[in-house]
Amino acid sequence: MKQLAIFASGTGSNAARIIDYFRHHREIKVGLIVCNKPGAGVLNVAEREGLPVLLIEKERFFRGDGYVEDLRRREIGLIVLAGFLWKIPLTLVRAYPGKIVNIHPALLPKYGGKGMYGRFVHEAVLAASEKETGITIHYVDELYDHGAPIFQAKIVVEPGDTPDTLAKKIHLLEYEHFPRIIEEVLHLQNHR
Ligand code: GRF
Repeated sequence: MKQLAIFASGTGSNAARIIDYFRHHREIKVGLIVCNKPGAGVLNVAEREGLPVLLIEKERFFRGDGYVEDLRRREIGLIVLAGFLWKIPLTLVRAYPGKIVNIHPALLPKYGGKGMYGRFVHEAVLAASEKETGITIHYVDELYDHGAPIFQAKIVVEPGDTPDTLAKKIHLLEYEHFPRIIEEVLHLQNHR
């Protein structure tokens, strides 16, 4: 079994989809939820699913061991960021080279970087009168929204779209593609 950890600090709707997708998978399972925000919706998802949670704190994450030992002890082979807002420290990037994947609700390299999350992304897309937007799934390095892209999917920005309507459409796109792409990334790693 390959085990993945989902890092999330929001409502966890993507996390829920990913858990569901791998529920009966023969090779892959979600083994851990990592969260930096007490009270976050994703913690309810973890509880409902009976999944262990690692609640992390800033000092140790950024200036300590990056929780590398905890992740290794739990035999985590892939880290999936699904609405996790902290930058990933170098210690963790080095411990999991090419094994950390993020989803971003825009077509990177546009609309990425610090502070570009959630509705801020969609507001910026609308303010710039973009004709299209979408999602980017990419490997994670020590810079925000920066590592090599794996997959993008696009939608058309329609007249009348608001940050809310875009958020809804983007979430549907994420649910559709993210679990499948995670599966592909894990298969690729098996054959390396
Ligand atoms: C997603 O839109 C993802 O792209 C972003 O954070 C959001 C998480 O939403 N990075 P949810 O918590 O999975 O509902």
